[in-house]
Amino acid sequence: MTLQTIVETAALDAFRLSLFSGGKKLAFVPTMGALHEGHLALVKQARQNADSVIVSIFVNPTQFGPGEDFNRYPRTLTEDARMLAEAGCDAVFLPNIATIYPEDFQTWIHNESLENQLCGASRPGHFRGVLTVVLKLFNLVRPDVAYFGKKDYQQWRLIEKMVADLNVPLKVIGSETVREPDGLAMSSRNRYLKPEQRPAAVAISRGVKAAVEKYKAGELGSQVLISTVAKEIALQPAIAVEYLTIREQISLAPVGDSIKGPAVILLAARLGDLRLIDNMELNPSA
Ligand code: PAF
Repeated sequence: MTLQTIVETAALDAFRLSLFSGGKKLAFVPTMGALHEGHLALVKQARQNADSVIVSIFVNPTQFGPGEDFNRYPRTLTEDARMLAEAGCDAVFLPNIATIYPEDFQTWIHNESLENQLCGASRPGHFRGVLTVVLKLFNLVRPDVAYFGKKDYQQWRLIEKMVADLNVPLKVIGSETVREPDGLAMSSRNRYLKPEQRPAAVAISRGVKAAVEKYKAGELGSQVLISTVAKEIALQPAIAVEYLTIREQISLAPVGDSIKGPAVILLAARLGDLRLIDNMELNPSA
């Protein structure tokens, strides 16, 4: 299969029309490129559940704060295109900055309840940038279904909420986090990890996993589970935890002392210049 490269919106419309006239289902995977196995898992899942798959690559400036890594965010387009073709992607959409943010751009999407919590607390404006670009991409691509990694749990939930609140006519699917063999959640920024930082980075998923095991063994006390993660991470002095919390899965509301329904352990931590996030769901057994 040949991967089509689409830059202009007219070409995107023509691609969309060719599917529409055949009554085909289009799946969409928005990305910022620097693709890894986690992205490819989304493409493969999309491939199985739709007739055609389109991936966008756009490093969205408005979701990076001042001093964040927008300029040095990895851009690996040739390698990305090769990986997408191999994964069975039909088209890659590479919008220009002027398509997404024309000079007179003024309108933004906010989630007033959640955009300043969790990752939003230390990244003001981040989710405004994410929701705005994702809605624009949805409107340009007009997919039937869109795939997001659960690694960015808050992002996934906020996009789901935007789609529900604004009646965006598509289905949002969250896909399981893909991990390295040592447990580290895959991320485009993992390439910045120095080998000597790896043991500290890996302690994060090990701590969260230990808490999930305790939960599965019957522990419902949120403080006990949080302490389980915190103790493992405390063994790594290079890690500074930004937040470590247990929230309800859909609303992301705090769970209280005892976990009653589907919940998720969420954390963000600093390791040198890197900011790492991870999460694992706590699903009551049926
Ligand atoms: O998760 C990402 O890569 C980005 O936040 C997204 C969803 C492509 C929006 O720029």
